[in-house]
Amino acid sequence: MNGRIRLGMVGGGRGAFIGAVHRRAALLDGMYELCAGALSSTPKKSLESGRDIGLPDDRIYESWEQMLEQELKLPEERRIEAVSVVTPNHLHYPVVKAFTEAGFHVICDKPLVHTSQEAEELVRLCEEKRTVCAVTYTYAGYPMVKQAADMVSSGVLGNITKVMVIYLQEWMLAADDKDLWRADPERSGISGAVADIGTHGEYLISLITGLQIDQLCAEASRALPGRQLEDGADILLRFTSGARGLITVSQACAGEENGLHVKVFGEKGSLSWQQENPNYLFYAPLGQPEQILKRGNDYLCASARSSSSLPHGHPEGFLEAFADIYRNAGKAILSSRGGVSGEKRGFPTVREGMRGVRFVEKVIESIKQDARWVKMD
Ligand SMILES: NC(=O)c1ccc[n+]([C@@H]2O[C@H](COP(=O)([O-])OP(=O)(O)OC[C@H]3O[C@@H](n4cnc5c(N)ncnc54)[C@H](O)[C@@H]3O)[C@@H](O)[C@H]2O)c1
Repeated sequence: MNGRIRLGMVGGGRGAFIGAVHRRAALLDGMYELCAGALSSTPKKSLESGRDIGLPDDRIYESWEQMLEQELKLPEERRIEAVSVVTPNHLHYPVVKAFTEAGFHVICDKPLVHTSQEAEELVRLCEEKRTVCAVTYTYAGYPMVKQAADMVSSGVLGNITKVMVIYLQEWMLAADDKDLWRADPERSGISGAVADIGTHGEYLISLITGLQIDQLCAEASRALPGRQLEDGADILLRFTSGARGLITVSQACAGEENGLHVKVFGEKGSLSWQQENPNYLFYAPLGQPEQILKRGNDYLCASARSSSSLPHGHPEGFLEAFADIYRNAGKAILSSRGGVSGEKRGFPTVREGMRGVRFVEKVIESIKQDARWVKMD
């Protein structure tokens, strides 16, 4: 176990969605070892959840505050070095702040926090403490997304004129809001679907095209009357380059599971990638037949090749994409052992998390003003 990163987890207890994905992803490359956890909101459920996954009783904590306090008392070679934060959104800020202040690295799910003031404080703290803070914008880890980014930056499409992200799910159509933290402004934040899945769209556009949003205007939708937060939104984008874009999200579209589709149009061609068929990237050069680029092949760019773990024809997906983020964050954590600031490459950082939080704030500002154009600061 000597070289492995000692990881703790906050959230991700019995019945939770993304915590188990983080655990599997962290273990996929053998780079991390899960040592401790405060996995749930009650001590009893935390204990049961920790035992379920084989944590020793003395490293299962009743709360994240107790985990922080007790881990700091352990000798450095036993103590966790990093913590994964996989709780509902409202806990991201206090947990990330406290662990970062104590010098731990953090892997936090999106949206990073509720407000840009909180995000700015985390950026400042991570710089002061020289810690890694990765934000798990999952789709950053897909090889064919990296390939798309490489093709755009190397000019294959020419100037980008239009970008579209369509992200549709159905699960909130029949959901009972009283059971959902995502429908509760106290826990989800000022936004529902935009914070939950729209942030993936904002991040993907930036990652693939490098375009910066200059202004946006947005309209929200709610499939159920009385719902406090939006379960969908349509967001028009003007980029600083003059290009135009659109992010459409909904968590209340019947028949849609995790239908994320990205389309990028340039003067010389276009790209299309779909999350439910992620091993393929469709490239349409202007005036020529469309090509299908396939994951795992030597003709792909270096980052797409190195982030693949299986040969072509053997499908990879969500877990491997998460594992790619853990791997690259892990390299930064390992290189920071001994007090040297680690090189932060190949994964979304606290700064991208902050940009996502600002994006949500601006979208909600526009929605509240009846779809008025608002400028990103
Ligand atoms: N990157 C992605 O693709 C992706 C996908 C799903 C969710 N998420 C994000 O992950 C986070 C968790 O979402 P989820 O769907 O797994 O939620 P969930 O409700 O399924 O799980 C949340 C877990 O946090 C635990 N928890 C609540 N309060 C706690 C506390 N005080 N201490 C410790 N644990 C506590 C709950 O008991 C539960 O185990 C959210 O921020 C969400 O936006 C990201």
